[in-house]
Amino acid sequence: MSDRTSGKAAELKSGKTLSGAQALDASAAERAKGLKTPLATDCIMTQIVLPGDSNALGTAFGGRIMQWIDLAAAIACQRHCRSRVVTASIDDVHFVAPVKMGMAVELRARVNAAFRTSMEAGVRIESEDPVTGARAHVCTAYLTFVSIAENGEHLVVPELALETEEDARRHDDALRRRALRLEKARWRRERDEAREASQK
Ligand SMILES: CC(C)(COP(=O)(O)OP(=O)(O)OC[C@H]1O[C@@H](n2cnc3c(N)ncnc32)[C@H](O)[C@@H]1OP(=O)(O)O)[C@@H](O)C(=O)NCCC(=O)NCCS
Repeated sequence: MSDRTSGKAAELKSGKTLSGAQALDASAAERAKGLKTPLATDCIMTQIVLPGDSNALGTAFGGRIMQWIDLAAAIACQRHCRSRVVTASIDDVHFVAPVKMGMAVELRARVNAAFRTSMEAGVRIESEDPVTGARAHVCTAYLTFVSIAENGEHLVVPELALETEEDARRHDDALRRRALRLEKARWRRERDEAREASQK
C-alpha cells in the first residue's frame, strides 16, 4: 500500500499535541507548502425533506439521502484535490433514525485521508426538527473518490496536512477502512475471475 502517513499524525499520536497558537502556525506553514488540512475541505449542506423526497410512510427515501451524501462528499474531495472526481465506493450505510417529511437534514462532509489517487471523505448526517430544534443522528457514511483528469487519467492527489489529534484519529481509522475495502475489492475480483474461468 502506498499510503502516505503524515509525520504529524505520528507526532500527534505520541502525545505531542499542538497548542492553539502552534496549530495556527502549523496551519500557515502547511498552507505555504501547498498542503491542505481536513478543515479546509469541510462541506456543510442543509436540505429540507420535501414530499418528492419522501416515501409512502412520510419519511425520507434512503436513496435521496444517499444522493445528498454523495454530493457533499464529492464537494469536500474536490476542495482537496481541485479536480474532477468520481465515486469509487461507498462503505456500508446504516440508517439509525428515520427523517420525517418537513425536517431539515444537515450533512457535514470532510476529507479524512488522501491516498495516492483516491481520498476518503466522511459524512455525518443529522436531522433537525424545524420547530423544536431537536436533532438526531441519522447515519454516518464513508466514501472513496478518485481524482480524474479530463482525459480520464487518474491524478495523484495532494497530501493531507493533519492538524489536530482528531484529524490523526480519523486518518488512522480511514487507513483501517481502506485496508478492509481493498481486501473486499480483491476478493470480488478473484471471485469474478474464477467464475469467468469456470464458464470458459
Ligand atoms: C473507481 C475507478 C476510477 C477505479 O479505477 P481502476 O482503474 O479500476 O482502479 P485502480 O486500480 O487504478 O485504482 C484507482 C484508485 O481507486 C482506488 N479504488 C479502486 N477500487 C476501489 C474500491 N472498490 N474502493 C475504494 N477504492 C478503490 C484504488 O485504491 C486507487 O486509489 P489509490 O491510487 O489512492 O491507491 C473506476 O473503476 C471507475 O471509473 N469506476 C466508475 C466510477 C463512477 O462512474 N462512479 C459514479 C457512479 S456510477
